[in-house]
Amino acid sequence: MKKNRLLIPLLLITCIGIFVLFACSKSGSGSNATTSTTNPSGTTDPCAGKTITISATATQSDACGTGVVTVTAAGSTGFTYSIDGTNFQVSNIISNVAPGVVTITVKDGAGCSKTTSVTVIQNASGPLFAAVKTMMQTNCFSCHSGASANGGKDFTIDCVIASSSDRIKARAVDGNPSFMPQGGQLSATDKKKITDWINAGGRYSD
Ligand code: HEC
Repeated sequence: MKKNRLLIPLLLITCIGIFVLFACSKSGSGSNATTSTTNPSGTTDPCAGKTITISATATQSDACGTGVVTVTAAGSTGFTYSIDGTNFQVSNIISNVAPGVVTITVKDGAGCSKTTSVTVIQNASGPLFAAVKTMMQTNCFSCHSGASANGGKDFTIDCVIASSSDRIKARAVDGNPSFMPQGGQLSATDKKKITDWINAGGRYSD
């Protein structure tokens, strides 16, 4: 009996102590406390009870990224589609995709996401482009390759050749403002490879 008289107040004090501690920690954690009160189960799994399936097909691309990826998703609603996992679009057709392996992310209206990968194949270049590239391997790549390429032009990247056609002609055929390759000039045969390509359109496909 003597024991119990001591034990009961002790228990009471302990209980009050725990209650106060708990209440303080709840009110002290600000907005988190509000969130966990309104949603006691914490974060809900947006994928619960769903089986989302996705697949993707791709067209070929030229050197500068003209590929088109078409994504098919099923098993939920409100889908949006992304090629970088950050920017999502409503259309399931993604344009201007560069060659390479791309990861496609699909997200439904609730935020459940799934990924798949698809390969965008770089199609073959046209013969006139190929002739210019081979000529440039010999005459230009020594100064124009890699991250520190001269004039900021890394001609080992096909897209850089294709998008620089006017400057390649200006420098290597017209010598404007000075001739390339630096310290020399191309042979008439090699200059003709550039003008033939430019006259046909100066594209990757020419
Ligand atoms: C010996 C080194 C060297 C070689 C070889 C060379 N370049 Fe250059 N290139 C440079 C340097 C340095 C610059 C930057 C200074 C300048 O623009 O003159 C440059 C800049 C350029 C630019 C960018 C500037 C502009 O005018 O648009 C183009 C285009 C270019 N080169 C084309 C060519 C082509 C085409 C070839 C081959 C036929 C070639 N270069 C070979 C050194 C070289």
